[in-house]
Amino acid sequence: MKRLFLLVPALSLFLIPAHAQSFPEGPGKSVFENTCGGCHGADIVIGQTGTREVWQDTVDSMRGRGATGTDDDFKLIVNYLTKYFGVPVNVNQSTAKDLASNLDITSDEAEAMVKYRTDKGNFKEWADLSKVQGLDVKKLEPIKSRIKF
Ligand code: HEC
Repeated sequence: MKRLFLLVPALSLFLIPAHAQSFPEGPGKSVFENTCGGCHGADIVIGQTGTREVWQDTVDSMRGRGATGTDDDFKLIVNYLTKYFGVPVNVNQSTAKDLASNLDITSDEAEAMVKYRTDKGNFKEWADLSKVQGLDVKKLEPIKSRIKF
């Protein structure tokens, strides 16, 4: 009989990481899963995409429904959702403000991208982004699939 007690915790250790893997790794992931998985599954967001404004509205509305956390928690959640459940971003057509907001880069980095395309012409491919002085292109790697030219 004793064995059963050992088996249950062993099984849950096995199940928890398997579930956690369904979301991309990134800052804010665990606070998002803990805060947003209380009433419905956190996976309610899967398949949805939105700009920062859209996710901010959703998160505000969930706070209104009773989601609890600190202001910093909710900021992290909005950042996480904007980054990993964001809209496609056209790097040639977006304003610096939209680049900064939707790609989660600094306004200086966004300005550097705009300066590059103004001076050298439109970005044509991923490799062009690494030529922008002042942009940490590694930040964009995890969201490469959302970047359009
Ligand atoms: C206190 C309970 C509660 C918590 C915590 C909560 N939600 Fe919700 N959520 C709801 C309810 C209730 C609905 C259904 C509302 C509806 O159908 O309009 C919902 C629906 C949703 C939907 C689908 C409808 C829509 O507005 O697009 C999304 C997306 C969503 N929640 C995201 C989140 C996120 C992100 C968080 C974490 C910040 C979160 N929820 C935390 C209660 C909660």
